[in-house]
Amino acid sequence: MLLQAVALTLCHTFVKAFNLKISSRILSVVLLSVLGAGFLLNSCTHSPYVLPQNLRTGDPTICFERDVLPIFISKCGNSNCHDASAHRGGYTLDNYANIVSKGIVPGNVAASKIWETVAIIKTGEEAMPKDGAPLSASELDILRRWIETGAVDSGSACSNNPCDSNNFTYSGAIAPLMQKYCTGCHSSASAQGGSLSDYASVKNEAVSGSMIPRISHQSGYNAMPSTGFKLSDCQIAQVKKWVAAGAPNN
Ligand code: HEC
Repeated sequence: MLLQAVALTLCHTFVKAFNLKISSRILSVVLLSVLGAGFLLNSCTHSPYVLPQNLRTGDPTICFERDVLPIFISKCGNSNCHDASAHRGGYTLDNYANIVSKGIVPGNVAASKIWETVAIIKTGEEAMPKDGAPLSASELDILRRWIETGAVDSGSACSNNPCDSNNFTYSGAIAPLMQKYCTGCHSSASAQGGSLSDYASVKNEAVSGSMIPRISHQSGYNAMPSTGFKLSDCQIAQVKKWVAAGAPNN
């Protein structure tokens, strides 16, 4: 109502200023203004809030490399869906530039197609991840806050990926690493490549000798994670040291 009143007042001023006396013209101006106000009113009530460009500085508690990228690496590369070679639906979800190039609208979760497929659509062709487990509540929370605050790449300013190569216990280093980067695909024994979700399976893969060459992206082996992403040198060192120590359940 207020907007319509403003539009009408503006319209009168306009008419007076230009001394337009032809009633049909006045009528069309009034009609257009009302329509315009209606449109404005409509977009105000239905469009979600979009963070202005200058405020999209990121959430200081979220580090893209540490918190967001692993979700895409582990949860979206299932059955080679969104790696560089398959890039189904035109989505390649393997690094920052590719992730934000499609389906993410910085500052606007509701308009972000990727958010819609993982958080809103629950069944059918578009529900993601297609074959794997849905994103957990905490993963969704990270993704939402990351998009809302501008989907920024915190880059080296946030390279605080806490990794200490002297910590290589199963519970403190190896299990969380598998959980974060591997179990999206290696969720159970029936998954391609088997399970990396429990101690016995992880140990089995590790001592068989097929894990280290793969995570080190050694030629002659399929690189893991299969999305093309490589763990940091520190993370690889943790796995190597743990395996060298006999892969204990510590
Ligand atoms: C995007 C999906 C995906 C992710 C993430 C992933 N893998 Fe794999 N992995 C596969 C597939 C598919 C295979 C089976 C094909 C092959 O052997 O390359 C496999 C096979 C393996 C194998 C060989 C299994 C065997 O047959 O002995 C190892 C070891 C392995 N992955 C380790 C890892 C580790 C460690 C991580 C995490 C750092 C990881 N993978 C993350 C998809 C994935």
